[in-house]
Amino acid sequence: MSGLSGKIAVVVGGHGGIGGAIAERFAAEGATVYATSRRADEGEVELGAGRLRTRRVEASDVTALAAFFERVGSEAGRVDVLAVNAGIAEYATLDDIREDHFDRTFDLNVRALLFAAKAATAMMPEGGAIVLVGSIADAIGTKGYGVYGASKAAVRSFARTWANELAPRNIRVNVVAPGPTDTAMMAATSDEMRETLTKLIPLGRMGRADEVASAALFLASDQSSYITGAELPVDGGMAQV
Ligand SMILES: NC(=O)c1ccc[n+]([C@@H]2O[C@H](COP(=O)([O-])OP(=O)(O)OC[C@H]3O[C@@H](n4cnc5c(N)ncnc54)[C@H](OP(=O)(O)O)[C@@H]3O)[C@@H](O)[C@H]2O)c1
Repeated sequence: MSGLSGKIAVVVGGHGGIGGAIAERFAAEGATVYATSRRADEGEVELGAGRLRTRRVEASDVTALAAFFERVGSEAGRVDVLAVNAGIAEYATLDDIREDHFDRTFDLNVRALLFAAKAATAMMPEGGAIVLVGSIADAIGTKGYGVYGASKAAVRSFARTWANELAPRNIRVNVVAPGPTDTAMMAATSDEMRETLTKLIPLGRMGRADEVASAALFLASDQSSYITGAELPVDGGMAQV
């Protein structure tokens, strides 16, 4: 069984796209999932063996995030599994980069992720798991995505350090690194960009959000009990061959 039966899970950025697929999969596998979104209606649904509780949170606002985690703590008492998915990817080549582009990207992709991990680990029992949604962009130099790639390289680096720091508590920290995946983020790029990217993927197609969710579930569950500090690419081979 790869299940998360009885676990309390938080997915930061858990509505739509990859994060929505992760939140739904975690719930289907038996977890009570708290999923944040800036835009979804608050509510609760039963999904498979678990529950999905959606909470309206501006994830890039560290104060709002802290209040959200306090609420989870008072309702559920702990966080067994944390997935941090919320992220943005804006195009800007070096000559076009402005401070606001850098700040938006790092405030969400790095700063919010850091403080979400800090808040969650404060109430994470032994055996907990953290799954950070990175990107293969952390290791390749896609033109126009320098700040994004650097933000995901920071995520990769955090996973190494936190895996080391949290190992004495048997809390594992890993990164799931999607390649081009068919979501709203990818739909926002140009046709030319999507065609170019698809040609670079050995499996000849973009990934689906549910394929990333399968990898996130593996890293969140006891199926990966001896894996920590690692990055699992879900990229059709794009950055692997
Ligand atoms: N799609 C790809 O090809 C691809 C490839 C590699 C890595 N990734 C990574 O996968 C993750 C999810 O991406 P996706 O493709 O599923 O994109 P998406 O559908 O655009 O979802 C983006 C996620 O980030 C949140 N978000 C966006 N802007 C935000 C902001 N300003 N403040 C707070 N939250 C914000 C969204 O939450 P709301 O509900 O609040 O809007 C949503 O959860 C990201 O970390 C991305 O870097 C994606």
